[in-house]
Amino acid sequence: MDQYAVVGNPISHSKSPLIHTLFAKQCAQELEYSTLESPLNRFLALVNDFFYGSGGDFNENHKGFGKGLNVTVPFKEQAWSLCAHLGDGAKLAGAVNTLYLNNQNEICGENTDGIGLVRDIKNQSVSFKEKKILIIGAGGAVRGVLQPILNEMPSKVVLTNRTLSKAEALVSIFSGLGNVSCRGFGQLSDSFDIVINGTSASLGGELPNVSSGIFASSTVVYDMMYAKELTVFNAWAKAQGVNTVYDGLGMLVEQAAEAFYIWRGVRPKTEEVIQLLREA
Ligand code: ATR
Repeated sequence: MDQYAVVGNPISHSKSPLIHTLFAKQCAQELEYSTLESPLNRFLALVNDFFYGSGGDFNENHKGFGKGLNVTVPFKEQAWSLCAHLGDGAKLAGAVNTLYLNNQNEICGENTDGIGLVRDIKNQSVSFKEKKILIIGAGGAVRGVLQPILNEMPSKVVLTNRTLSKAEALVSIFSGLGNVSCRGFGQLSDSFDIVINGTSASLGGELPNVSSGIFASSTVVYDMMYAKELTVFNAWAKAQGVNTVYDGLGMLVEQAAEAFYIWRGVRPKTEEVIQLLREA
């Protein structure tokens, strides 16, 4: 049977096997999707073994070669470097979350995170067009979503980050694609139409130290993290009077749907899968 997997370290808590198994069932696709924990210094060897059967553990145990991999922390940048070809969404992102083989059996990479974020927000009938957007954070997660957001033609995208130099570096990479600029945490006072939290601060239960002046009651707030309860950031936004907050669970399912489409040529319906995960 065709083999797929998500590779990361750690990986045991990944929801990707569940999501892709639900997609496969829904779309009547015969495939197996598993998790692979790669030692930090063995990622390249594992990918080669997965796709080409170079004598490692994967093909010993699975009686069939790998067709596609999802890649997660901390290997997305390494995945980007090993690709023979990069999709349009991956070139500037500097990171790849989906690997597949082309007709010449070469490893190709795409980044579906940004498409996932944009689709999830559009599913809520929120448009980016002509909107003022603030993105907090300037790490790998934010770099991965900037191009698809700028493609939606917002009136402006402002990046803010605790370490301003990282936001400045992203502005120089993406400035050819639209109106993107940056400001320090202390230089924000006006409100935005859409505020996206792309920091990892929530993981430690922390808030980025930005003014609540970024919010109006009509601001749409999106935290790229997700949690069973309201994320720390979304709880704070609500306490400041924001009516509409979303977390990143829908983005997780949408990025997976795009990967599934790359691999199988079929686009799964995401709404019922998002609902199922929300209730799980
Ligand atoms: P990821 O892949 O999740 O983007 P990363 O590349 O390590 O991870 O980036 C983490 C982001 O969260 C960075 O923008 C980081 O800010 P710095 O560049 O100043 O380090 C941000 N971040 C993490 N913890 C934060 C906190 N407590 N307050 C504000 N920003 C935080």
